[in-house]
Amino acid sequence: MTPTEKSRQQDFLRAVCQTSPYPMGLEIAHAKGSYLYTKDGLRYLDFISGIGVANIGHRHPDVIAAIKAQVDKHLHVMVYGEYIQEAQVDLAVKLTSLLPDALDQVYFTNSGTEANEGALKLAKKFTGRKRLIAFEGSFHGDTHGSCSVTGREIYRKPFEPLLPGVTFLPFNQVERLNEIDEQVAAVIVEPIQGEGGILVPNQDFLSALRARCTAVGTLLIFDEAQTGFGRTGRLFAMEHWDIVPDIVTLAKGMGGGMPLGAFVGNRTLMSTFSVDPPLSHVTTFGGHPVSCAAGLASLNVIVNENLSQQAETTGTLIRERLKSFIGEKTEVCEVRGKGMMIGLVLSNSEAAARLVKRTFEKGLILGWTLHTDCVIRVMPPLNLSEVEMLEGLKAIEEALG
Ligand SMILES: Cc1ncc(COP(=O)(O)O)c(C=O)c1O
Repeated sequence: MTPTEKSRQQDFLRAVCQTSPYPMGLEIAHAKGSYLYTKDGLRYLDFISGIGVANIGHRHPDVIAAIKAQVDKHLHVMVYGEYIQEAQVDLAVKLTSLLPDALDQVYFTNSGTEANEGALKLAKKFTGRKRLIAFEGSFHGDTHGSCSVTGREIYRKPFEPLLPGVTFLPFNQVERLNEIDEQVAAVIVEPIQGEGGILVPNQDFLSALRARCTAVGTLLIFDEAQTGFGRTGRLFAMEHWDIVPDIVTLAKGMGGGMPLGAFVGNRTLMSTFSVDPPLSHVTTFGGHPVSCAAGLASLNVIVNENLSQQAETTGTLIRERLKSFIGEKTEVCEVRGKGMMIGLVLSNSEAAARLVKRTFEKGLILGWTLHTDCVIRVMPPLNLSEVEMLEGLKAIEEALG
């Protein structure tokens, strides 16, 4: 490490707020495709896609070109929803053309947590109801509202009082869904829990949830911040179950590497924010034109190159190979997930931490999920090449050995 790099590392620890006592501290020189390159000349294969963001890899040329073209036109010009901004309109039109017909109007945000904040407020205002239901093991973001519906107490406790009237039900238990009643404005659910440990619900859970919400007039919010944009082998995870929520929230992979999120519902529902009072949910930067231009370029790549299908195919190969590591000689117990949203379950958190450390030493980036630290997240870019896939799997195999 050069003296300049050493001093930057010290500045990083001193001047940049730390979110954990053990930051990875890689100093990134540049990133391209599935790789990150450090200042000291090392190359890392990114098997977590910057936590579900780099679905089409880092710095995809189409995204870079779209960003440059937009920068030459305009940056921020006015708070959300006033001026006609081509980049926003084009992305909204494309997005709604790819979502079910009932999801036909988009409100853009900067992030996933803001998308969920908007969706929860929308549901309360539209229904006039006060209660919310979420699931144990969920993660919906770290602002107050999203934190209130995040299903792990240690992450809520320090910030209480949070939103009142939130009930948590066990994920994947159909028997408890009758606790959703006419007082409940919305149920928020990840179709596949990400931070909960890449948990895919049983076949009947989400359809039973949809049916119960419809029966009692409760709005169903699907948080697809992590599952969206091809990650699970479909453009949106809802397609696996053929279920249409009342609101879907999006983020992460949406912006092609730029900050962007959205909540999408039908026009009647979405019009709630423009009356009683008007401007009842506004944002300055939501749907920033540069992010929207990048988002449209990224979405076009996903659709035109059929990356959802590629995620299904490559994801199946990866899961099969990882499953072959289950056995007496390794601490791998289970492999789960859909498409390229994969959870590698180790026997305990120490084994998981060891695997992450060893693969890191071999130039492969993995990480564990927030709520379940024995589950390793395997979420490479969807356009991972065969060579890159084999390189990553070899590093995992050697690290387990
Ligand atoms: C399912 C889900 N919802 C919401 C969020 C929050 O998104 P953001 O970090 O963009 O606020 C995340 C982030 O990991 C997530 O996985």
